[in-house]
Amino acid sequence: MSEKKRILSGMRPTGPLHLGHYFGVIANWLKLQDEYNCFFFVADWHALTSEYADPWKIKGFVPGLVRDWVSSGIDPEKCVIFQQSVIKEHAELNLLLSMVTPLGWLERNPTYKEQREQLAAKDINTIGFLGYPVLQAADILMYLPEAVPVGKDQLPHLELNREIARRFNHLYNTDLLPEPKDLLTEDAKLPGLDGRKMSKSYGNSIGLSESLEDIMPKVRGMLTDQNRLRKSDPGDPKVCNLFPYHKLMTDPAKLPEIEAGCRDASWGCVDCKKVLMESLERFLTPMQERRAKLDDDTVRDILDAGNRKAREFAQRTMAQVREVIGFDF
Ligand code: TRP
Repeated sequence: MSEKKRILSGMRPTGPLHLGHYFGVIANWLKLQDEYNCFFFVADWHALTSEYADPWKIKGFVPGLVRDWVSSGIDPEKCVIFQQSVIKEHAELNLLLSMVTPLGWLERNPTYKEQREQLAAKDINTIGFLGYPVLQAADILMYLPEAVPVGKDQLPHLELNREIARRFNHLYNTDLLPEPKDLLTEDAKLPGLDGRKMSKSYGNSIGLSESLEDIMPKVRGMLTDQNRLRKSDPGDPKVCNLFPYHKLMTDPAKLPEIEAGCRDASWGCVDCKKVLMESLERFLTPMQERRAKLDDDTVRDILDAGNRKAREFAQRTMAQVREVIGFDF
């Protein structure tokens, strides 16, 4: 393997990716894949912590997630793309780390408290859910990475991960496990169609695999500057929900014209939406062309190859872990 530093990140397979995921997570991964030795994995066991009652739902989303990544430009030649539940070593490391992790650390985890309230309808009073960060620590520490690209919401988990590594190293008098840094993803730059956070469950998202015909009516219905009641009223791009989309997807040379046109009311929102539709088409078409070439067998092959590399790495780490605790019988 090359001399590049190693990083690792994962996503839960909970459904098709949308533009919010693209600009929130994938765009960051795309930048990192040239600079680092990247391990990107499908965290299907993590999806199970909240979906354990409907596990079959998860299965269909696994190849879908890989297809979304690769069609977005994640390059399987450069990155190791793998599936968590195939690498059983994650379960073994999870078990060993859970031995050294005090319950209090997990009970104090803000994500745990928050999610328990948010997902009140689901019964997530389970060991699996409480232990989510331990499994995450196993995912991470297995690959002895330099850093972990994550969003802000994951920072408490990463902090726990470092504490667990420190405790393990201290107890067993080793420096085997690293304390990986976070490579923080900037806050989501793209709001949903209605201005709230983009989420499939809010019905305000544009999927990466959606057809342009399906996207068009969504763009037509997008909220713009709500103070602009008539076309002759001047608008304010700062409060318009379309403008962040233009900033990310429209030719930057065009932006001043759009902004000025909105402010002096020479552009109507319909004009603006037409331009956005063209930008979306330009943005999504290459992705969808790549997607068309990714049949089931190709996705399978990508995962098989990544799984092989990940397994090799994980087996090496586990041999060292067992040795450190004297369980190398
Ligand atoms: N908890 C992460 C999320 O919900 C997913 C995840 C699981 C992960 N294991 C990981 C992310 C390891 C980074 C590293 O988004």
